[in-house]
Amino acid sequence: PEVISVREFAEKLGVEPTQLLQDLIALGKFVAINQPIDFETAAKLAEKYGKVAKLEGEEELESLEKELEETPDREEDLKPRPPIITVMGHVDHGKTTLLDYIRNTRVAEKEAGGITQHIGASVVEVDTSEGRKTLVFLDTPGHEAFTAMRARGAQVTDIAVLVVAADDGVMPQTIEAINHAKAAGVPIIVAINKIDKPGANPERVKQELTQHGLIPEDWGGDTIMVPVSARTGEGVDELLEMIALQAELMELKANPDKPARGVVLEAKLDKKRGPVATLLVQTGTLKVGDAIVAGLYAGKVRAMFDDKGNSVKEAGPSMPVEVLGLDGVPLAGDKFYVVKDEKTARKIAEKRQELARESALEKEKRVSLEELFSQM
Ligand code: GTP
Ligand code: MG
Repeated sequence: PEVISVREFAEKLGVEPTQLLQDLIALGKFVAINQPIDFETAAKLAEKYGKVAKLEGEEELESLEKELEETPDREEDLKPRPPIITVMGHVDHGKTTLLDYIRNTRVAEKEAGGITQHIGASVVEVDTSEGRKTLVFLDTPGHEAFTAMRARGAQVTDIAVLVVAADDGVMPQTIEAINHAKAAGVPIIVAINKIDKPGANPERVKQELTQHGLIPEDWGGDTIMVPVSARTGEGVDELLEMIALQAELMELKANPDKPARGVVLEAKLDKKRGPVATLLVQTGTLKVGDAIVAGLYAGKVRAMFDDKGNSVKEAGPSMPVEVLGLDGVPLAGDKFYVVKDEKTARKIAEKRQELARESALEKEKRVSLEELFSQM
């Protein structure tokens, strides 16, 4: 990392070095004029003088990343896109089983310990009174992935389906899910599940939910709550109808005719295939052969697979796809972008890695300094 002395830094800020020394003392730092200051301190001082301290290379990266800036879409280029629905709720309340019923699969049975470990994305076609609709569902392991994404500023959900088991009622993760959805400003539709069970008490669930600000429509509130059984399928059609209606109201749109951008849902290292990333396209169309940057990594889309494992050449807005060809494993919630060529992608990724290393080093240095002081 770049080392800058008090004198040099004062010059950059356009203040007298003696003034800077006083500021440093105010921060509890006693350094001489020719001694270096750490980045964190420099950042604080810069802020005081209305400037922003940057790590070496940051500016260069910023100019490279200009390429990634989104050009606003013209209204006439926007086309309807499917809604992205995140299924949330307390552990074992039946999220995966509900999705299994909807897409006619048996994922829940095959899961280790019956616990969802990763985000499953599924695309389903449903017949509603509004006609045939495409819905994109994200199954979450508890709500951790959702939190990870939100922590990185990625918001992918249009509608949250909150699954509450009617024999168990509102539980801690139910409340967390409600809070997450509310914080994200996402409409919530409640699926009161397991109504086939002898101990099921949907009315009690409604009662409990009102204590968390979700008032059912039939009690004069505005939250849709549908009693369902993921096992027998009872109520599921009505739930899908409600989701489709909600989506219709939202008039979700995106421009499919431009380079894709979106979010990494999850990624892993596959022994045979290398890094495999599940990407959710938010705008534009992702194509095989596209050069992409995802988080700290770059690559070229070598192959793409849809949620059913079919090889596809293109993926438009709202579509989740598994992508091969990245040179590393990005994090859930990282953004991805198509850039003009692989070279540009690599340059951006390299710069990002460099900066990530630098700030990690800065953090390390800070820690060791603190340790030093605590030992004195
Ligand atoms: P996590 O992924 O661990 O958070 O759980 P989950 O919410 O995905 O629950 P999952 O679908 O794995 O279901 C948990 C258990 O409840 C399984 O044994 C399911 O068979 C059962 N189950 C789910 N829905 C119903 C239902 O409607 N009725 C009955 N009787 N059992 C259900
Ligand atoms: Mg599950």
